[in-house]
Amino acid sequence: METVIVKITENDIENRKKIEAAGALLRQGELAAFPTETVYGLGADALNPQASQKIYEAKGRPSDNPLIVHISKIEDLEKITKRVPENARKLAERFWPGPLTMIFEKNELVPLETTGGLQTVAVRMPDHPTALSLIQAGGGFIAAPSANTSGKPSPTRAEHVALDLQGRIPMILDGGPVGIGIESTILDVTETVPVILRPGSITKEMIREVIGEVRMDPGLAKEDTQIPPKAPGMKYKHYAPKAELILVAGVQEKVQERINDLVREGTEAGKKVGVIGTDESCGKYLQGIVKSIGTRTDERTIARHLYGILREFDDLKVDIIYSESFSAPGIGQAVMNRLLKAAGHQVIEV
Ligand code: TXA
Ligand code: MG
Repeated sequence: METVIVKITENDIENRKKIEAAGALLRQGELAAFPTETVYGLGADALNPQASQKIYEAKGRPSDNPLIVHISKIEDLEKITKRVPENARKLAERFWPGPLTMIFEKNELVPLETTGGLQTVAVRMPDHPTALSLIQAGGGFIAAPSANTSGKPSPTRAEHVALDLQGRIPMILDGGPVGIGIESTILDVTETVPVILRPGSITKEMIREVIGEVRMDPGLAKEDTQIPPKAPGMKYKHYAPKAELILVAGVQEKVQERINDLVREGTEAGKKVGVIGTDESCGKYLQGIVKSIGTRTDERTIARHLYGILREFDDLKVDIIYSESFSAPGIGQAVMNRLLKAAGHQVIEV
């Protein structure tokens, strides 16, 4: 299959036509990748079981891992769910369009192929003009996981989508690099006290401000290997770079010293070593392939570059990567959740 890559640029009068063409594909039960504010998504008509199934095939995704249904209007939420709790209504009003996905009881319109066999459905209204227009053009309910091959980091640029899915999908809408760079926060609102199933840039504190009580899924903590995470996708080894990734945590100066030691040892042992530092620290590393992930003065830059940097190190075929850690509040929590998974929870405390 030929993959057509269609550029969407600001103030292009052709955009409307291009998005209509992608929407027509979706309505015919085909796939199209598109930008959102978090990561690129791989879209299909969420109400068409055969279309959803194509997503699993293209990504090589396990069929028990449910998809998020994207909508373009808050009112459409009622059309696919049994009940919208008051908490959810408040959160939608505050954070939609935006990087918050909520889990509801699904109604009969949503096929089990879209929800991985579950009676619940994940719904989100993305904050991206191209995504919103495409959802409308495609029929209003678009299932979209991140547009990567299963097990690879989520794509933050159209080039990443093409590298993973070229030849497997008919169209990619290229809207340039995304703004946020990590996937949406997932909140289960079917429980009386809503539960965060995946941390993202909408933090627990931001949610608490709107609805009061909220808790973290205990299955997210690595210590609790007994408890499986409630979002099926969180149990898979995800976001995995090909190289071994090890995080070094502690006081900044000590971290830099230790990373320098580790890089020297690795290099002497004939390994190709990568380092993930920040704008502030990169100059302190003496050896290895050093990349800055962003600046500690703005954690959002770190989220934005995380997946791209993991892919760059894959391309460079490094054997091992040492990374600083980012255990800050706010979006830092979501960044650490992804980094820890990519590292298989290997952390050196200094
Ligand atoms: O930012 C995002 O959410 C991106 C963009 C494209 O919108 N999408 C995304 O989708 O990250 P995906 O499929 O890569 O991740 C969806 C996660 C998976 O971990 C899945 O298991 C979980 O959401 N999920 C979906 N429906 C669920 C449900 N009914 N109950 C529990 N978890 C669910
Ligand atoms: Mg994904």
